[in-house]
Amino acid sequence: MPTILITGGHSGIGIECCKILASTYNYNLILAGRSPGPMENFAKELIKSYGVKVSVLAMDTSSLTSVRSGALYCREMIEKGEVDKLQAIICNAGVRLGGAPTYTVDGYEETLATNYLGHVLLLELLLDCMADNGRIVFTASGTHDPDTADGKMMGIADGHDAIGLANTGKDGAKPVSRGKLYATSKLYMILYAYELDRRLRKAGSLISSIAFDPGATSGTGFLRNMPKPVQWLAGSAFMSWVMKKSGVTIGDIKFSGECLARVTADPEYASGSGKYFQTNDGKLTERRSSKLSYDEQRAVKLWKDTKSLIHIQPNEGSVKLR
Ligand SMILES: NC(=O)c1ccc[n+]([C@@H]2O[C@H](COP(=O)([O-])OP(=O)(O)OC[C@H]3O[C@@H](n4cnc5c(N)ncnc54)[C@H](OP(=O)(O)O)[C@@H]3O)[C@@H](O)[C@H]2O)c1
Repeated sequence: MPTILITGGHSGIGIECCKILASTYNYNLILAGRSPGPMENFAKELIKSYGVKVSVLAMDTSSLTSVRSGALYCREMIEKGEVDKLQAIICNAGVRLGGAPTYTVDGYEETLATNYLGHVLLLELLLDCMADNGRIVFTASGTHDPDTADGKMMGIADGHDAIGLANTGKDGAKPVSRGKLYATSKLYMILYAYELDRRLRKAGSLISSIAFDPGATSGTGFLRNMPKPVQWLAGSAFMSWVMKKSGVTIGDIKFSGECLARVTADPEYASGSGKYFQTNDGKLTERRSSKLSYDEQRAVKLWKDTKSLIHIQPNEGSVKLR
């Protein structure tokens, strides 16, 4: 049975996505993440409920060393025939942090490292472990677009490049806010998804690279690092009404998870490469992402800066895409 690797599959939108991938599409799964207990428990639940094979892979996406060792372990499982080549990789793990910047073991701002840099490294290391017609899906966010109601809540860290942003606050200057760091990490995912699509097409590959926005979705662990009153307000019916009135995209935990599974596995989205899909108020539609996300020069610079930030080695990554 074909296999899908997902980061952050044991929580929130990821849980609902995995259930649909296992039940409707009959996929085996690899749950990659940093919380072994919840991952093992959820793997057991999936195996028991749907009879699929589920492996657990230790991977902290904020640490380059952890992503490298997780990717190596995954490669070994494939080479030993324990799991099939990957039919999809879903870059779903993400954090919305608050307060002053914190830095990872590699010295990078934590939001950018967790949401963006770790996932790019993962893809670089596992692209050749994917099925010929595999799909890569990035869980992005409407907050990446400063021209929308979602984006206006946070703004974008424009005027900084990825290297500057990864090091924000270190030079004594005022650091970029955590809200902007979150939104920009998602903009980077989309810029990268589109650039990856262009490079895959140029290399004659059939692998797809798709961006997906689940919409503002309550009931997940997304706001767990925010103050308790913020968490309470965000989950209230009143806030949901205010957001809808203000034009914010609205997700629902089950539906957003189902939509993530659909863009990953459904034949209907087989030609979705280079596109942006969004869940809003019970509908899944293809949409335009932000103006900034279509800037190809910006994407090429980001591609190069990212390679330098993740310290890609000459023997790593897909030569075809350089
Ligand atoms: N909820 C929303 O309103 C919303 C809107 C737009 C986009 N999104 C995006 O949707 C995705 C899923 O979020 P969610 O709402 O389902 O929130 P969630 O329940 O908090 O899920 C986030 C997942 O990311 C994992 N994760 C965080 N840091 C990690 C790290 N360093 N290494 C490995 N895994 C890590 C978490 O694992 P742990 O349990 O180990 O922390 C968890 O499994 C995220 O990318 C988020 O940005 C959410």
